[in-house]
Amino acid sequence: MKIDVVSIFPEYLAGLQLSLIGKAVDQGVLDLNVHDLRDFTFDRHNTVDDSPYGGGAGMVMKAEPWALALEHILGGGSLGTTSVEQTDGADTGDKEPAAAGKPILIVPSPAGPVFNQRIAEELSDADHLVFACGRYEGIDQRVIDWSAEHFDLRPMSIGDYVLNGGEVASMVMIEAVSRLIPGVIGNPESLTEESHEDGLLEYPIYTKPASWRDRDVPEILLSGNHGAIARWRRDRRLERTAEVRPDLLAELNGLDKHDRAVLGRFESGDDSVKE
Ligand code: ADE
Repeated sequence: MKIDVVSIFPEYLAGLQLSLIGKAVDQGVLDLNVHDLRDFTFDRHNTVDDSPYGGGAGMVMKAEPWALALEHILGGGSLGTTSVEQTDGADTGDKEPAAAGKPILIVPSPAGPVFNQRIAEELSDADHLVFACGRYEGIDQRVIDWSAEHFDLRPMSIGDYVLNGGEVASMVMIEAVSRLIPGVIGNPESLTEESHEDGLLEYPIYTKPASWRDRDVPEILLSGNHGAIARWRRDRRLERTAEVRPDLLAELNGLDKHDRAVLGRFESGDDSVKE
């Protein structure tokens, strides 16, 4: 997958060089490029913002630097690429842009639909993602409208709160998406039982020692009975979801009789199902 990020603070994205995402970049599984928006300005001060028409507080990002940066990315060039080096001729499994369709342009914004695991899964199938990190009060709407002609435009929020810019939100989404790409996580099985994978939160986990400060690991996990352990874990997932995120229960499919009994007991306040 190819990922381009445009920002006036490309250093923010340097964290993506670390850990599993950095390794995936090094190995050519991910082709990650960070572009400095100021490289697409031509005045002495590299101006990227101006005051809003109609008045109001703050500044608005100018359309032209954004259009030039996005056109540059559409052209496949590397001017302005910093921080996370472009992989050097490595096989990234690139497809022809025509065959792959329009790149997806994600514009992080608290005014977008809220990003979640389903969207991460959908985006992990894409060939090319572009993240446009706005700052100040946002980006001139005309370049957003223009970009919809060239990209599959996806405004996206990471939650109902306001950040200072799109960089952190982009990093959140890039990490959530990249880890779903085959080859990024060493053990793909670790993706199958985590929170949100099937609409449930994950079960509690423990490691050695079996007894720590008078707190024991639940007996069943020491039993070696894999069927019973799987059932116990699913029960904990159901309970935890009902307790912490009851809003997720409405979306659940494929609950069996036992699942419903666990949820029913939990809802009626009878927690005897817990070990
Ligand atoms: N930019 C500012 N706040 C944001 C949010 N909550 N999500 C995505 N981008 C943002």
